[in-house]
Amino acid sequence: MSDTVKYLLDETRIPKTWYNIAADLPAPLAPPLHPGTKQPIGPDDLAPLFPMALIGQEVSTERDIEIPEPVREVYRQWRPAPLFRARRLEKALNTPAKIYYKYEGVSPAGSHKPNTAVPQAFYNKEAGVKRLSTETGAGQWGSSLAFAGALFDLEVEVFMVRVSYDQKPYRRALMETYGARCIPSPSGETNAGRTALEAKPDHMGSLGLAISEAVEVAAQRDDTKYALGSVLNHVLLHQTIVGQEAMAQLEMAGDYPDVIVGCTGGGSNFAGIVFPFLGEQLRGGKNVRIVAVEPAACPSLTRGQFAYDFGDTGHLTPLVKMHTLGSTFIPPGFHAGGLRYHGMAPMVSHIMDLGLMEAKAYHQSKCFEAGVQFARTEGILPAPEANHAVKGAIDEAIRCREEGKSETILFNLCGHGHFDMQAYMDYFAGKLQDLDYDEADLAMALAGLPTETAA
Ligand SMILES: Cc1ncc(COP(=O)(O)O)c(C=O)c1O
Repeated sequence: MSDTVKYLLDETRIPKTWYNIAADLPAPLAPPLHPGTKQPIGPDDLAPLFPMALIGQEVSTERDIEIPEPVREVYRQWRPAPLFRARRLEKALNTPAKIYYKYEGVSPAGSHKPNTAVPQAFYNKEAGVKRLSTETGAGQWGSSLAFAGALFDLEVEVFMVRVSYDQKPYRRALMETYGARCIPSPSGETNAGRTALEAKPDHMGSLGLAISEAVEVAAQRDDTKYALGSVLNHVLLHQTIVGQEAMAQLEMAGDYPDVIVGCTGGGSNFAGIVFPFLGEQLRGGKNVRIVAVEPAACPSLTRGQFAYDFGDTGHLTPLVKMHTLGSTFIPPGFHAGGLRYHGMAPMVSHIMDLGLMEAKAYHQSKCFEAGVQFARTEGILPAPEANHAVKGAIDEAIRCREEGKSETILFNLCGHGHFDMQAYMDYFAGKLQDLDYDEADLAMALAGLPTETAA
């Protein structure tokens, strides 16, 4: 069938292991440091926040890590996710390139986030935890953890960045439908939230601040642990089922990518699609060009410093070495709430530093233009975050047209935008602003990076 559109795997093909790229990297990651002593931390330092099984995965260098059967059982609700060949988009672009996209919007929450929410809930339940606290930017992660909490009978408390809370009331309703509690951040419920509100009563919030609130809640209660939707090694690990499935599906199509494109907030959907292919390259397989796409208003990979920094605004988390805009940096309000994080996953940052990938930054209106073209050809309406990947893939396809090359482009369509219609309405009304971050704010945030670290 030369004109196949969807490449589907049956449920038996859900991967049995997650792929850990730490096993194949030419140099190890810099260790996380204790925020007080600035010395490398051990598993016990993380124990108040995470169950031991996840801490073990965080530091593991084993290549293949078994997916517990109860997690695979839940994955069956929507996995394996389809791989599409974007034939109609290719035609509209008049490109000789072949464009494939892995569609993660088929999950219950509408994105890749349940891929890690489910195992995180599972391991917490196994460890006897009763409650999980977390943050959410776009609302996709909060909905995913709420869904996973419902399945594993855990209470879930979600601090939602104020600007998204106001923009997306239906995301909050979805979290409540799954039984979670959703609180706008900054809130009056934590020290971090109260301090921010005192300084700025109309604070629109940020992911870094919402993380501080959720970490504070977890650190204070024995029955509560914290869950993070991106950035950490174990989160990226859980997402590698995306790339593993895509690899099997491309094999069905008789293809292999020349270029892989993913959008980057904290780096998890990007890592999910990229790492299995990059691992193959590192083990002597075919070279793949890897392109991360981030918002110009919050450009951690393209404008940040590769340095030790806090994961949150309130400086409660360990220091990790990553591309960062500074933990006090508050990006301007734009519609891809999931990409408004000041840092990048240490693993993605490390790979960038090793020269194994490239990064680009785009303004939001160009990304929405690409998303609308995608919706009008392929039918799926992407999440504002995913529009960055769509734009990146379209630009690669246009380059192929200009260079007369028939390359194979693979991108991760990490979520749908059905709860993001206000953003699309603003785009159609010409109200979207292409905000740039403030240079002076960035310089100030970077000047505040912690010093005296081991790096
Ligand atoms: C649809 C979607 N894509 C991407 C992201 C960014 O996160 P990550 O870089 O971890 O994939 C988010 C985060 O909320 C999201 O909701």
